[in-house]
Amino acid sequence: MDRRLQQHRSGAEVAHAAIARRRYNPVVSAPATKATSSLDPARYRALVRPAGARHIETIDQRALPHSVVATKIADPETAAQAIREMWVRGAPLIGAVGAYGLALALDRDPSDTGLSAAYQFLDATRPTAVNLRWALDRVRGAVIGLPPAQRADAAWHEADSIAAEDVAINHAIGIHGLELLRTIARRKSAPVQIMTHCNAGALATCGWGTATAPIFLAHEAGIPVHVWVSETRPRLQGAHLTAWELAARGVPHTMFVDSAGGLLMRRGDVDIVIVGADRVASNGDVCNKIGTYDKALAAADNDVPFYAAVPSPTFDFALASGEAIPIEARDAEEVLSISGSDSRAMPAAVRLAPPGTRAVNYAFDITPARLVAGLVTERGIASATQAGIRAMFPERAE
Ligand code: MRU
Repeated sequence: MDRRLQQHRSGAEVAHAAIARRRYNPVVSAPATKATSSLDPARYRALVRPAGARHIETIDQRALPHSVVATKIADPETAAQAIREMWVRGAPLIGAVGAYGLALALDRDPSDTGLSAAYQFLDATRPTAVNLRWALDRVRGAVIGLPPAQRADAAWHEADSIAAEDVAINHAIGIHGLELLRTIARRKSAPVQIMTHCNAGALATCGWGTATAPIFLAHEAGIPVHVWVSETRPRLQGAHLTAWELAARGVPHTMFVDSAGGLLMRRGDVDIVIVGADRVASNGDVCNKIGTYDKALAAADNDVPFYAAVPSPTFDFALASGEAIPIEARDAEEVLSISGSDSRAMPAAVRLAPPGTRAVNYAFDITPARLVAGLVTERGIASATQAGIRAMFPERAE
């Protein structure tokens, strides 16, 4: 456990961590906090592969913000479970864990049959974020032409590259997004008011996060910012994760219930909306956490620019529009109850509706490209149009 990380944990948190450890998965240590990029200020990492290890370590995000629980992933079944049950979540992180999951599977069985079975098993964990399929394709492409005995090492190498590239992509998105915030800062004397939704932060990636990278860079550069954090029902990624990340970095923020986004914009309290993305179609339609579309509509009605931060692996050039993106439908129980911690800082779930109530739980929605002011990518800000995306990534659009 890193000492700096430990300092953030109260006695109750440590107790909760011990309980969570028994309930969830054996924990060996917290993910190393040493940044792989000298530019990255994070004191925690969503994913770490200890040097030379044939396993990875992640943060079990279900326990945040009440405790920091590290989880060891040492076999492909655990990798799949971690993705499916959202110990890890966020499009880029899901992709990286999937890539390592395939490497773990090849350690056990590097045959063609083993490769194909593990690919399908991992690909079936979550349907919407295209980064998972992209990462699995990359690892499979790197090993398929090799003799079985060489495949596992090559897969670990490729997974490492995917994770390292994600850190660099995050930073580049931050640099481009920072210019948007700078421009707003120049025309006002008060803090730049940024609204975000869900968690597109460091916990959703291998590095800085996507939507949060410009915010972290602006804060570091001394540009006054304030972030409006939507709670993000039903899994509360905003309340549990984004608020935790912003607090850890000392970025001023305020949480609001999902339904208050429109009012905040109408009051003139928001300068810009920046969200992440799970899949972006070739016409610029953005698929992201449920509730994103509502914010884009309110932003359009109130002349607030709405941006999505999109790493290149999140583009799906095979899809003409967002209509074909598979929308994950999750367990109704996630809507019918709510989880948090009680007055003793112990994990607690509370039922919200009468027994027998039916609930629908679509995890993502599609924001039509016409509502999107721009896509902040690692190469710059693309217009949310087929031409704009093609011009930014000509080699992938062929
Ligand atoms: O269901 P989740 O938590 O995996 O959904 C995550 C989101 O929708 C994020 O906003 C998106 O993946 C962007 S992550 C950089």
